[in-house]
Amino acid sequence: MKLGSLRIDNPFVQAPMAGITDSAFRTVARKFHGGLLYTEMISAEGLCRGNWKTMKYTEMPKDHKPVALQLVGNDPGRMAVAAVLAESLGADIIDINAGCPQSRITGPGSGGALLRTPEKIAETVKLAKKEVSVPVSVKMRLGYSTDESLRIAGLVQDAGADFITVHGRTVSMGFSGESDSQAIRQVVEALDIPVLANGDARNEALAVSLLKETGAEGVMLGRATRGRPDLPGTAYSLLSTGTFGRMSPGTLFDTMLEHTELEQELFGGSSGIKRMRKHVTWYLRAAGLRFDTREVYSLEDAGTLRKLLEKAIFAKA
Ligand SMILES: Cc1cc2nc3c(=O)[nH]c(=O)nc-3n(C[C@H](O)[C@H](O)[C@H](O)COP(=O)(O)O)c2cc1C
Repeated sequence: MKLGSLRIDNPFVQAPMAGITDSAFRTVARKFHGGLLYTEMISAEGLCRGNWKTMKYTEMPKDHKPVALQLVGNDPGRMAVAAVLAESLGADIIDINAGCPQSRITGPGSGGALLRTPEKIAETVKLAKKEVSVPVSVKMRLGYSTDESLRIAGLVQDAGADFITVHGRTVSMGFSGESDSQAIRQVVEALDIPVLANGDARNEALAVSLLKETGAEGVMLGRATRGRPDLPGTAYSLLSTGTFGRMSPGTLFDTMLEHTELEQELFGGSSGIKRMRKHVTWYLRAAGLRFDTREVYSLEDAGTLRKLLEKAIFAKA
């Protein structure tokens, strides 16, 4: 896959997900595959002001490379300043969030709301392209309430974006209904720059079909990677060899403990465990294991977590 100046073998990409794809998650994901990773959306304003919490989300150790840093904001000038900072922090790609449907983001005109003012997205791309040497991309939905993807993607391409990711839903749809892969295919066919297809690739087989159906350069995987940081690697294995293997019980156990340690290092002992609770339910559910959700949501320390995992993963029924 070629995205601007970057060449990456694996066409399956880890999606940005707020509260999930922090540095701890990325370290874990990197053990399973060499594909493109994304930070979660990072406030351009918070980055410009050096807000300490924002800075935590920008942590990109060298071994995470290639990693895209995603910016969210509504002011093209400030987004361009943030892009310069992001490049200096080690980002291999600067991505602009033009898809988030949450009202706290769209309210001030950021994320998905930018699809109502696509000239602002184009302006941001133009300014950022002047300032940084790494590829600049846009992650968009089909439109705000109707499909305007061809017009908007065309503007973004003309502004100089290196590639575009398209999630096949409108902002108004939130996560309801289905992602429209045919609409994504039309964007792929209309543009000269690469497109990443995104939406509803819930497993390896669906990821491979979305790649083939859309003719996209790559496929971005979101919700299905919760508890499956290995998914971009296993999907690539299915594409290239026709088969893939899931994590062994031992690997699952070690991965969850490492993820916990890393969350605790990043956010502190108590917050780290609290952040980890949701991951625990996702990992165990994805592995088809039985567990008591209440027990997971009352976890307060790593020792109790270890015991819970031993029971869920290794205890014979
Ligand atoms: C919990 C959660 C957080 C998300 N955070 C972001 C984000 O920070 N930036 C972004 O562009 N998309 C974000 N997304 C959207 C995903 O990147 C992706 O576009 C969407 O989930 C559709 O892909 P999927 O069907 O593979 O999940 C988020 C999605 C979820 C479920």
